[in-house]
Amino acid sequence: MCGIVGYVGRTSGRADAGHTALDVVLEGLRRLEYRGYDSAGVAVVADGEISSRKKSGKLSNLLAELDARPLPEAMTGIGHTRWATHGGPTDQNAHPHLSDGGKLALIHNGIIENFAELKLELVAKGVEFASETDTEVAAALLGDIFRNKLGGDVSDGGLTRAMELACQRLEGAFTLLAVHADQPDVVVAARRNSPLVVGLGEGENFLGSDVSGFIDHTRRAVELGQDQIVTITADSVAITDFFGAPAEGKEYHVNWDPESAEKGGFPSFMEKEIHDQPDAVGQTLLGRSDIHGKLTLDELRIDPALLKSVDKIIVLACGTSAYAGQVAKYAIEHWCRIPTEVELSHEFRYRDPIVDANTLIVSISQSGETMDTLMAVRYAKEQGAKTVSICNTNGSTIPRESDAVLYTHAGPEIAVASTKAFLAQITAAYLLGLYLAQLRGNKFQGEIKDILADLAKIPAKIQRILDNEGQIKELGQSMADAKSVLFLGRHVGFPVAMEGALKLKELAYIHAEGFAAGELKHGPIALIEEGQPVFVVVPSPRGRDSLHSKVVSNIQEVRARGAKTIVIAEEGDEAVKAYAEHVFYIPETPTLLAPLLATVPLQIFALALATAKGYDVDQPRNLAKSVTVE
Ligand code: G6P
Repeated sequence: MCGIVGYVGRTSGRADAGHTALDVVLEGLRRLEYRGYDSAGVAVVADGEISSRKKSGKLSNLLAELDARPLPEAMTGIGHTRWATHGGPTDQNAHPHLSDGGKLALIHNGIIENFAELKLELVAKGVEFASETDTEVAAALLGDIFRNKLGGDVSDGGLTRAMELACQRLEGAFTLLAVHADQPDVVVAARRNSPLVVGLGEGENFLGSDVSGFIDHTRRAVELGQDQIVTITADSVAITDFFGAPAEGKEYHVNWDPESAEKGGFPSFMEKEIHDQPDAVGQTLLGRSDIHGKLTLDELRIDPALLKSVDKIIVLACGTSAYAGQVAKYAIEHWCRIPTEVELSHEFRYRDPIVDANTLIVSISQSGETMDTLMAVRYAKEQGAKTVSICNTNGSTIPRESDAVLYTHAGPEIAVASTKAFLAQITAAYLLGLYLAQLRGNKFQGEIKDILADLAKIPAKIQRILDNEGQIKELGQSMADAKSVLFLGRHVGFPVAMEGALKLKELAYIHAEGFAAGELKHGPIALIEEGQPVFVVVPSPRGRDSLHSKVVSNIQEVRARGAKTIVIAEEGDEAVKAYAEHVFYIPETPTLLAPLLATVPLQIFALALATAKGYDVDQPRNLAKSVTVE
């Protein structure tokens, strides 16, 4: 979950390329800071030497350090923004780590699992370590191989050859980027189970954890496979496997523009991303059906016969994505009549789950890099299951390792707490459910067409909620002193309640819990005391089997015990007014689709409350956007 950037430009300097390595690397780190912000560091190669600076804390600390102690102008450089795993977030543990007498600098994303054993070996050879990190061990190993095994010979691959030999010894998950003073025009990188993409420029080339690392400079990207090494110079990109055999990357065009990775005039990425939601849902729905209303999921390249034989679905995800999975369960079971379980990825493979060739695994991950989910998908594949990934990040690991992918088209989500990706994931899961229902004949074509028509109306309805956000914002601001907030929901409102609570925990650091409203009387009601704020997501009063009256009873139960109730209800539901301190109305929509609307006021509430407390809503403490360790 660290962010990494690498750059090589023509050595003629700033006048030629318009920027130096440091300019490119710092800009890349700024965009990648969402991946971790415990420390940041850079190294450049100039005048036959490695010069590096690193600082704990956010990128701004490194920038201050660079102002105080500038680096020499250079056209080769690497940069790192860290989410700490081995060793605390100190200056010493920040990357880059140096070896070979300060001539080699290395940065790393991931975990080297056999670092302790390698460290013992290197200590026995007299190597001294300055940090507690596994990364420094990788740097020392690479330096030792370069100097002692290859004799520092740069004529036959040099750093690239050393990287091959080092990778053959490393276990775990890693993206490594290295520069060496004796090969000033080269950055060498390797990847196993951690992300890395190459950006192709004119007389310059780039490396990044994802394309935002270089999106200001090029839209041409190359996806690397597992266990590959790439060596970039200003004019070349060479890919091999860990044993030096030539390998191919897959070139693709990045259709995210740099502006969409910016805040678009909002005070925070999160606020921008909440406002991106009509578009995120709209884009995810785009081009999914033909003129007859028949769903055509082109990316879903699994033999229809196999999908027809599926007798169980298991949804795997973590965090917000897992709540999207819980919403999906209600829709898929209702539309397709296939038993659907939702499991937190990190719990899945440790309970000896029942998975076979008739099981369809649906993983949901915004980043496509969450290690817990990746490992769960791999485990399920080993058991013979078919795997579909719902993912927002093109070319990331989970979709690449799955049999099929349904991309959400929410655009880059930068704020750590997920908002637009959540709505896009729910939308994609609905599409998958409808597609299965169509394929298996559970629904008439006309019914599917009607649901798609209802879905098509969702973006405009979200926009209406956003256009009237003032009232919920004010409430959030006024509740900055709240110590605890509870959220109740039933049916699809239950995962919405849990997501509302998660947003508040993540952003405002206050105790928040989401409960199934029916469960209240079985325990949680003991929490209610005078003035306790309780959000209630009320289902539509329309339609058959409405749970509306049951939830209204639940509101009365908590109010009778002193709770201050804040209700999210459907427009026209006048009945709830009598039982609520505050009511926020959302447009009418079929019950199963309501999470796409009911979630939005809860996001705005958490954002407003956390902002009123003066917290950084884009980068909440202790969190990272993409958690690439188990
Ligand atoms: C981290 C993030 C959460 C996110 C979760 C799953 O914990 O902080 O916001 O929901 O990972 O991420 P994914 O990329 O797999 O959806």
